[in-house]
Amino acid sequence: MVSQDHYFTPDPKVASRPRTIRVTLPDLSFELDTDRGVFAHGHLDFGTDLLLRSVPAVPPGELVDVGCGYGAIAITLALRNPDARVWAVDVNRRALDLCARNAERAGARNVVPAEPGAVPERIRFAAVYSNPPVRLGKPALHELLLTWIERLEPDAVATLVVQRHLGADSLAAWLTDLGHRVERVRSKGGYRVLEVHATDGSPHDGSRVR
Ligand SMILES: C[S@@+](CC[C@H](N)C(=O)[O-])C[C@H]1O[C@@H](n2cnc3c(N)ncnc32)[C@H](O)[C@@H]1O
Repeated sequence: MVSQDHYFTPDPKVASRPRTIRVTLPDLSFELDTDRGVFAHGHLDFGTDLLLRSVPAVPPGELVDVGCGYGAIAITLALRNPDARVWAVDVNRRALDLCARNAERAGARNVVPAEPGAVPERIRFAAVYSNPPVRLGKPALHELLLTWIERLEPDAVATLVVQRHLGADSLAAWLTDLGHRVERVRSKGGYRVLEVHATDGSPHDGSRVR
């Protein structure tokens, strides 16, 4: 199945057909190359665009974009805060190559494209961002998200965008049950932007999404 190829293979078999898009946000405008075999060929995903328009100020320090694709999130974060180092993590090598080229063209020298295992274990993140690969299925998605959320600094936040009909609300409830405070900061076009606070031992405050 060609359209889902990018979720399951490190090296997409589908022939390359690059297409350049322009990302235009209130504060930034830059070009990105996209390709077949990489999520959102020829366009910026609606959910990704929504996340980029919803996030508060980007903190300095170590950040990670989990499932970076061709790099729209990682590059935007890096341009918004040159004092951040943005790990752009993906299992798809075509995506990582695109992300590296796109970051260079956009002048985002603080993006580090990397396979997940190449990010040093000792690093803790000031923020995590993801338009996650929900089609992996619940068990694999949960494992993937926890891998990175558990590496947040104590007061840090993970910002996720997930389609409602692909399980945004049940994902929020599951994270809440694990002890994270989860806030739905935006809801538009069938997508939810969720802020997941690192577990810091503080008592539940009743404002969680269930
Ligand atoms: C929904 S796409 C988002 C891509 C990009 N961030 C965007 O917004 O256009 C999810 C990405 O997660 C990647 N992915 C799948 N499994 C992964 C894993 N175990 N670790 C990191 N990334 C993964 C896919 O290759 C895909 O690029």
